[in-house]
Amino acid sequence: MSRAERKMDHIQYALSTGQSSKNMFDDIRFVHQALPDVAVSDNCIKPETGDLKMKSPVFINAMTGGGGHDTQQLNGLLARVARETGIAMAVGSQMAALKDASERRTYSVVRKENPNGILFGNLGSEATVQQAHDAIEMIEADALQIHLNVIQELTMPEGDRDFRGALERIQAIAEQVKVPVIVKETGFGMSRETAGKLKQSAIAAIDVSGFGGTNFAQIENERRRKKLAYFEDWGIPTAASIVEVKSAFDKIVLASGGIQDAQDIIKAFLLGADAVGLAGSFLKTAMQQGEKQLIADIESLHEDLSMMMTALGAKKLIDLPKCPAIITGELAQYLSMRGFD
Ligand code: FNR
Repeated sequence: MSRAERKMDHIQYALSTGQSSKNMFDDIRFVHQALPDVAVSDNCIKPETGDLKMKSPVFINAMTGGGGHDTQQLNGLLARVARETGIAMAVGSQMAALKDASERRTYSVVRKENPNGILFGNLGSEATVQQAHDAIEMIEADALQIHLNVIQELTMPEGDRDFRGALERIQAIAEQVKVPVIVKETGFGMSRETAGKLKQSAIAAIDVSGFGGTNFAQIENERRRKKLAYFEDWGIPTAASIVEVKSAFDKIVLASGGIQDAQDIIKAFLLGADAVGLAGSFLKTAMQQGEKQLIADIESLHEDLSMMMTALGAKKLIDLPKCPAIITGELAQYLSMRGFD
């Protein structure tokens, strides 16, 4: 099977396996405030993301690695959506294009469609410093995501089996490239132990990319005969992972993994996230309902955020962690067992 076919498989299986909604956001309930003393017009939904310079609290997370014509079209669509809505966008892994120059068009289309937008490049933690420089240059990236995907690799028959030295490579890249580096998971979340290790490096941000949305163990199991079922329920749910990472990492924390609507986004901010990424749910709208609907949905997300902030009495996103909320169920249990009381 070619790399292009594998990438198209990922898109098809991401759509068919869907989002599991096991991210534990349902265990959070706001405490209503009947006297919020703010106006919708007072609200500012611009996040505080420092060097990442994001204008919207929402971004399109990495999805389309090298995969020929179809992924080029999808990347073009997502780039136009990002331009029209003013949101940042990450491209999928650029490693294929670093190895095969004919794949470069899959990515250059993104900068062409959105010349002034905030774009994140993307590579795996096997990348060298030179590959990081080249990936940034390829799309004039404003930041570089480095993804960690141990569970996906282990579940892939042809995947990596050696994960040594990743932290050292990340550290070297973060020290030597000119743009901020974001280290992200790919749907299995990050613990406070992982965040503590990353804190020592010069990275600017962690994207927790937690469990409960797109599930790459399930996607890869669809592609293999002997299934590794034990990885399908493996990761740290996104809500729990935000708390884990916040406790050990004092720079920017991005939240992703099963984010579906404005309520999930508000809850991620309540737990301390600085911005929120969506992959699977944007992919579904893009593929099934098209570009216009995705633009309309993102505009509607922005409006819904403003409405909910008003009801909670929050003028800025950074006011949200101060809003009273109740945490129940499995999330409360998880946080208590991990000592986050
Ligand atoms: C991804 N994701 C991903 N991440 C990454 O860093 N590099 C990549 O190339 C890809 N490729 C990719 C393809 C497809 C089809 C999907 C759906 C996702 C992972 C993505 O960025 C995100 O971390 C997870 O999907 C969890 O978020 P959602 O999908 O639950 O919102």
